[in-house]
Parts: sequence; C-alpha cells; structure tokens
Amino acid sequence: MPVRRLPLVVLLLAVPIASLLTARASRAADAAPRSPVGIRDPAQDPPGRALYLTNCKACHGVLGAPTKLSVKKYEKIPDLTAPLFWAGRSADSVVAVLRKGVGRDMKSFADKLSADEMRAVAQYARSLVRTP
Ligand code: HEC
Repeated sequence: MPVRRLPLVVLLLAVPIASLLTARASRAADAAPRSPVGIRDPAQDPPGRALYLTNCKACHGVLGAPTKLSVKKYEKIPDLTAPLFWAGRSADSVVAVLRKGVGRDMKSFADKLSADEMRAVAQYARSLVRTP
C-alpha cells in the first residue's frame, strides 16, 4: 500500500470505530442507575407522593395501609390499598373529602393544600390500591 494512502485508510477506519465507542458509552449511561443503589431519588417519585408522605402517612401509613397503632387510635380509618374501599370512590371523591373532611379525625385540608395539591395527593392515594 502506498504510504500516501495511509492517512485515508486510518481515517476511514477511525470514523466507524469512534462512533461505535461513543454509542457504547451512551448505552452504558442509559443503563446506569439514576441514583446510587438503595437511595430513593425523590425526583423520580410520582406526583403527590411527597404530599402524601408529609400530610397523610402519619395516619394512613406509608403505603396506604394503616398501622396497627393507627387502627387502634382511629377505629374508622380505611385501608387505602383495599380494592373494595375504592369500589365507590375516585380521586375526585377524595378531593371532596380533603376539602371538607370526614368524621372526627379526618380533618379538612382546605387550609393546608391548594386545589392542585389536593388533586395530586388524591390521585396518589388512588394509586395505592392493591392490584391482584
Ligand atoms: C389524623 C389522622 C389522619 C390524617 C393525617 C389523614 N387522614 Fe384520612 N382518614 C383518617 C380517618 C380517621 C378516616 C376515617 C374517617 C371517618 O370515616 O370517620 C380517614 C378517611 C380518609 C378517606 C376516606 C374518606 C371516605 O369516607 O371517603 C380518605 C380517602 C382519606 N382519609 C385520605 C387521606 C389523605 C389523602 C390524607 C392526606 C392528605 C389523609 N387522609 C390524612 C385519618 C387521617
């Protein structure tokens, strides 16, 4: 092979090799976990979750099932994970509950949450239902 052609050959080989390498690097970045293992990234949370954890968790439990203590303290507290609980309810009906409150212990959140926040937390509560 004449020496003058060598740079051209190198160039022709370099381009596909370089693109192969960058493609592999970006695939690796896509596959990489977005946060260190075991650490939850709140930015990845569904909307309403943070509001739920701040305002509802104490009574309704982290995942919607009330703790034993909660059940003892609030005998009427519902299990938000129960499909039957949601049979006659919707995110909209939860918004109404949040606006007005129910019974003695489920107070109105009208002075704590905006309409948008109520909708977000209600939709999150709705999503806690157990799926078979
Ligand atoms: C102080 C404890 C407490 C907190 C905090 C609380 N709840 Fe409740 N919640 C209750 C109790 C007790 C009931 C049962 C009320 C009744 O039927 O007398 C209830 C009932 C409900 C119901 C069922 C109402 C119905 O009959 O349709 C929903 C839905 C609900 N809560 C959602 C929420 C959400 C969402 C939040 C947070 C924004 C929240 N709760 C915060 C105690 C609480």
